[in-house]
Amino acid sequence: MNLIIENTTLSLIKGDITRQEVDAIVNAANSSLMGGGGVDGAIHRAGGSEILEECKKIVKKINYLPAGEAVITTGGNLPAKYVIHTVGPIYRGGGNNESTLLSNSYWNSLKLGKSYNIKTIAFPSISTGAYRYPLEEAAEIALKTIIKFIKNENHYTEIRMVLFGENAFETFKETLLNMNL
Ligand code: APR
Repeated sequence: MNLIIENTTLSLIKGDITRQEVDAIVNAANSSLMGGGGVDGAIHRAGGSEILEECKKIVKKINYLPAGEAVITTGGNLPAKYVIHTVGPIYRGGGNNESTLLSNSYWNSLKLGKSYNIKTIAFPSISTGAYRYPLEEAAEIALKTIIKFIKNENHYTEIRMVLFGENAFETFKETLLNMNL
């Protein structure tokens, strides 16, 4: 499903983010940047050790990556040139600023990508796996943040949400269709 807003195509696809042929893919990392399971594990496996090596250099400088922030590394063996690593919030019921932190993860990843003149970028559904963010709420936050960035900055050619399963894809699609843009 594609939507054109200003000069940016916002696309929702079902698939594997490690196979996306875009300038940058976004990783749902943890604050250690040392890899993990889920999409983090898939990206490090597919991208190879170069990515982890660069993550180690970053962590040496910043100690850890706070939730909502983003850093960038090479894409290693991935089709994508770059990986933007962001840390989504762990969902603890919604009273710990989770919605702002989740929005920041998308916004700061888009801002960082723009500073590298990245024109096509793919996101997974951040925080909706191990970090247990309710999918519908997360989809609303993700899409609202992305659309706000497009309207403010009008920089990207394509911003892609890559959903790993039918349920996530349908939820994002329904959410997008119900947004009065
Ligand atoms: N491509 C696209 N999406 C994927 C892929 C993939 N290859 N693998 C998993 N996903 C989806 C999951 O189905 C989920 O919808 O990514 C979404 C995010 O799930 P997680 O990867 O568990 O990420 P998150 O919920 O943000 O938790 C982050 O998990 O893997 C660890 O190191 C990571 O500690 C961090 C935590």
